[in-house]
Amino acid sequence: MDWLTRIEELSYLGAAALFILGLKKLGSPATARQGNCLAALGMLIAIVVTLLDRQMMSYTGVLAAIGLGSVIGAIAAYKVEMTAMPQMVGLLNGLGGAASALVGIGEFCRSVTLGEPLTPSTLITIILGVLIGGVTLTGSLVAFGKLQGLMSGTPIIFPMQQAINLGLLVAFLVASGWVWLDPSQLLLFWGLVAIASVLGVLFVLPIGGADMPVVISLLNSLSGLAASAAGFIVGNSILIIAGALVGASGLILTQIMCKAMNRSLANVLFSGFGSTTTGNGAVTAHATAKSVRTIDPEESAMMLGYAKSVVIVPGYGMAVAQAQHSVKELADQLERLGVDVKYAIHPVAGRMPGHMNVLLAEANVPYPQLKDMEDINPEFENVDIALVIGANDVVNPAARTNPGSPVYGMPILDVDRARHTIVIKRSLNPGFAGIDNELFYKEKTLMLFGNAKEVLNQLIAEVKHL
Ligand code: TAP
Repeated sequence: MDWLTRIEELSYLGAAALFILGLKKLGSPATARQGNCLAALGMLIAIVVTLLDRQMMSYTGVLAAIGLGSVIGAIAAYKVEMTAMPQMVGLLNGLGGAASALVGIGEFCRSVTLGEPLTPSTLITIILGVLIGGVTLTGSLVAFGKLQGLMSGTPIIFPMQQAINLGLLVAFLVASGWVWLDPSQLLLFWGLVAIASVLGVLFVLPIGGADMPVVISLLNSLSGLAASAAGFIVGNSILIIAGALVGASGLILTQIMCKAMNRSLANVLFSGFGSTTTGNGAVTAHATAKSVRTIDPEESAMMLGYAKSVVIVPGYGMAVAQAQHSVKELADQLERLGVDVKYAIHPVAGRMPGHMNVLLAEANVPYPQLKDMEDINPEFENVDIALVIGANDVVNPAARTNPGSPVYGMPILDVDRARHTIVIKRSLNPGFAGIDNELFYKEKTLMLFGNAKEVLNQLIAEVKHL
């Protein structure tokens, strides 16, 4: 091993260590920014070292691509709304999958054109890379289309769907075997690429748009595996390591989301959740004749201002209304009056992991005030007011009490155990799960109807007068 190779391998080791450290720091909102920077530094080292590799043919094209990619990336990062982040991540996963599949396709075409035979193990890795990369690309594009509203967000289910998927998978395996035995079969290889692409579309079509964050996390994991495969194909250790890290962390995240929704991954992928609403709890508020107690901003402000403790529970509605800054301003006003304010964060509140943490961090809410579900739930009994802002499913007591409810067993924030609960939302309409929420009809619950941002601004104006 010459000294150049030694430096390269050592730099890759350093980059890998930075990736792992970065991932660790992403585990807490307080260190997440630092973690991001460390991982980005690792990526910079990995890119520079790879570009300095002696086998690099021409820098012009690579640098032009980096420049163009950086400009597009920077514009997208500035322009994309927080609520559109899941589809942005989905698109990026798709591009990762495409890049890995292209590496495999490139290597195969090169070997056929130049007549340079591939080793059997490289051939298997290429086929795997094409399968995973292809599925990731087209699956992510469908996920993007569903979340961006370019196509129906509801599960698309048709007869014999699973049988067709199985048939395609078998066809892929048979064709792979053929290509493996006779690697000159370029046309058959393109057939493999086509089957993988169709499989990706069929895999995501039956999944409901609102389940897409879980799918995106899974596709993220797949894009990591595809990158690892690409690393094996071109013999690049940092690509193998980075791909494995993405693959593992994506899978862990998928598992965390499924657990927080009390659903198995198989249920998310194959149940067509959202295509129909079933179970005892699956009725919309309009269909019920129950009545709710309403409250206006003036009265709410009095209650909040004279409370000892208030726990704010943000949900998807806060994200839609972009009300995080108003939430912080209200909390500041309440603290000015001596109220103890905390925030209760449910792991799947909103539509993507860490959704609420990111929004509240953007509004400079101090991290120590953010409480996890396990920490805050035992405290609710002693809380004067739980202020629910655009959250619905994550505070539905049916998850504890109604075995017939689709959300039964999902861990929830026990806001109904607080002395009073004020719920800010626009109507009695259900949330993501499409089910009625018995919290709204409880005696201690007061509904404050309206757009979260507008209502909060009214509350701030009222509290300022106290
Ligand atoms: P949801 O149950 O989806 O409820 C959000 C509520 O916000 C709606 O009922 C809606 O009621 C209200 N809302 C919408 N726009 C509003 C606005 N401008 N102002 C005020 N309120 C507004 O939200 P959640 O409690 O955060 O629960 C999240 C759900 O998503 C869970 O079921 C979870 O399983 C699912 N999910 C989450 C994730 C992740 S990782 N977070 C991933 C997949 C699925 P109105 O229309 O009446 O206003």
